[in-house]
Amino acid sequence: MHVDPLALDWRPHPRVTWDVLLGPRDLRRALEEDVRHGLTHKPRELPPKYFYDARGSRLFDAITRLPEYYPTRREREILSTRAPEIAARTGADTLLELGSGTSDKTRLLLEALSAGGTLRRFVPFDVDAVTLRSSTLRIASEYPRLAVHAVVGDFERHVPLLPQGGRRLIAFLGGTVGNLAPTPRARFLADIAAQLGPVDAFLLGTDLVKDIPRLEAAYNDSQGVTAEFNRNVLSVLNTELDADFQLEQFEHVARYDARQGWIEMLLRSTEQQTVTVADLDLRVQFTAGELLRTEISAKFTPPQIDREIEAAGMRTEARWTDRAGDFAVTLAVSA
Ligand code: AVJ
Repeated sequence: MHVDPLALDWRPHPRVTWDVLLGPRDLRRALEEDVRHGLTHKPRELPPKYFYDARGSRLFDAITRLPEYYPTRREREILSTRAPEIAARTGADTLLELGSGTSDKTRLLLEALSAGGTLRRFVPFDVDAVTLRSSTLRIASEYPRLAVHAVVGDFERHVPLLPQGGRRLIAFLGGTVGNLAPTPRARFLADIAAQLGPVDAFLLGTDLVKDIPRLEAAYNDSQGVTAEFNRNVLSVLNTELDADFQLEQFEHVARYDARQGWIEMLLRSTEQQTVTVADLDLRVQFTAGELLRTEISAKFTPPQIDREIEAAGMRTEARWTDRAGDFAVTLAVSA
């Protein structure tokens, strides 16, 4: 999106192979279906995966450095101290990372597995081909003995197609599992469990329940970066579907729903307005104050993580938290 594919360097790399499970036509069809469904149903809702065009990915990167947004720093703290233990426990020769993005925290795991002498192969998996391509090539050049197999896919659909063989560590970091509502989350975890052979392991990052002001501040930062990130989904629809959302007529809202145990991000229409989505032949009326939900980000307690892991057919083998107890990384294996 917004990138001239001819400007990219697509020369083949001797140690990198590519698997595209999600071509431009699938992406387009999913976008059209999701947006039509989400904007015609009440309450109105858009899936969070459409935040991440080039600008959205840059804004998310900026979010991870905000003082209020603790999850990235906490998870990095856990992985920097525990990666050697994770490497020793799993003895993995393949690191498979779902939603690998810029593969930043991945390096901590690659380092530890490579120091442990078991690492052979890295399989980054992401929905965004552009980010995947650049981070894959960077990792390949940083690790000259590593075989890299990059996969463009959607973790809600393509887990059953992950490459097999060896001792695999499947990592799903960042707390992204919290973007899934309970039913799709159970389905996703069951897909993972079905993938896991006796020597494989699953590493899951989850944000933990904590006091509400800190949770809400993490999604409502004082510099307004998260607000920009939230509204960016509208500019993605403007570009991709020829919609005419006026971004300044939608206010960023982030609130913790204690009953559901999740942060909701929403956009509030500041006035009554009609938005046209030309490519879908769709006109959407918003009343003044009407909310459009753009993301949920579930927060967990350790017993809840164990229950969900077990319900999927796995068991928790180890769990680590940061010193503040803000974030958890769980190692699970097949039950
Ligand atoms: C990348 C999905 C883990 O839910 O905290 C950050 C995305 N949204 N600020 C999260 C996000 C608003 C983030 N995840």
